[in-house]
Amino acid sequence: MKNDLVLRAARGENIERYPVWLMRQAGRILPEYRAVRASLSGFKELVETPERAAEVTIQPVDLLGVDAAIIFSDILVVPEAMGLTYEMVEKRGPFFPNTIKSESDFEKYAQVDFDIEDRLGYVLEAIKITNKELDGRVPLIGFAGAPWTIFCYMIEGQGSKTFSKARKFLYTQPEMAHDLLNRIAEVTVRYLKAQIKAGAHMVQIFDSWAGILGNAQYRTFGLKYIEKIAEQITEVPVTIFAKGAYAAVNDMVDSPCNTIGLDWNMDVVNIRKLVGETKTLQGNLDPCALYASHSEIERLTNNLLDSFESKRHIVNLGHGVYPDIDPEKVKTFIKTVKNYEI
Ligand code: CP3
Repeated sequence: MKNDLVLRAARGENIERYPVWLMRQAGRILPEYRAVRASLSGFKELVETPERAAEVTIQPVDLLGVDAAIIFSDILVVPEAMGLTYEMVEKRGPFFPNTIKSESDFEKYAQVDFDIEDRLGYVLEAIKITNKELDGRVPLIGFAGAPWTIFCYMIEGQGSKTFSKARKFLYTQPEMAHDLLNRIAEVTVRYLKAQIKAGAHMVQIFDSWAGILGNAQYRTFGLKYIEKIAEQITEVPVTIFAKGAYAAVNDMVDSPCNTIGLDWNMDVVNIRKLVGETKTLQGNLDPCALYASHSEIERLTNNLLDSFESKRHIVNLGHGVYPDIDPEKVKTFIKTVKNYEI
């Protein structure tokens, strides 16, 4: 591996400078992505065509100079493999025509007895092609959604500000909720292991809707299942990104992960005090900071890096990059991190 900074930072090994990549770096910010996307019928065809998925995975490495690639796919391929197909509706986001309402839906929509290669082989193939084309330039990150976030979509069927149907389920059918979360976790372990076998050098678990649960509930229905997954992934470094789960970061000190992803509301200094040198932190510039001027982005990025007090850090935004950000602003962010002396 020519540039393994991200892997070394994740393992707590020595680094010459902080590594940097962006969540959602493979996507609409790049005109080159939009061109590939426009040449196909839509988002799903891109995700399901390994050569093209590999191509857009590598674009940010070539065009932005990030220190890692993340495989172009979506967290929603997992519920789809379990039996719930999704549609990606232009300007609206994901939509599932069917959802899980009762235990009798499990057989159809929460399947576990299937072969990962059979149903998600296109992701594994995209990983293999990407690594061949990357030729060891940077590590490739695999990923999956956390059980709680996948549960939200399987119950709710689409995005929501409150996910109140999914949360209602926890109060009215807690046993069924645990059954479903267990099923998702079981499939996710097999899926992540298959990604690693195909060539993913580290993996990230995205819990995008962690913040909508209270702390006690998040421990019971959220973090517990992430930890169940993470403790079975011993092959490569694991990152947990639980967006908005401020109180849960305390619990993550003991989680079986190398890296904790922080959103931009989380306090790097306090969390560092909490974890000491036992964990790597990832994040957490406000994605909106990239709307500022180039000089302001430089200042804000340097301020963030000044606050670290440890080398165990992978620089990223606090959430995915917004699609209308100017790629030149992203380059300024990346350049500032690369020029920072530690
Ligand atoms: O560059 C990368 O980060 C890799 C690719 C990636 C995508 N989705 C591609 C994508 C990753 C890691 C994801 C994860 C994902 N998908 C999450 C977790 C991370 C987060 O943002 O909180 C979630 C919640 C989803 C579900 C999802 N997919 C939604 C809600 C949407 C619609 C909103 C949006 O951004 O448009 C998607 C679509 C999606 N996934 C796009 C991309 C590039 C945009 C679709 C397009 O190109 O038209």
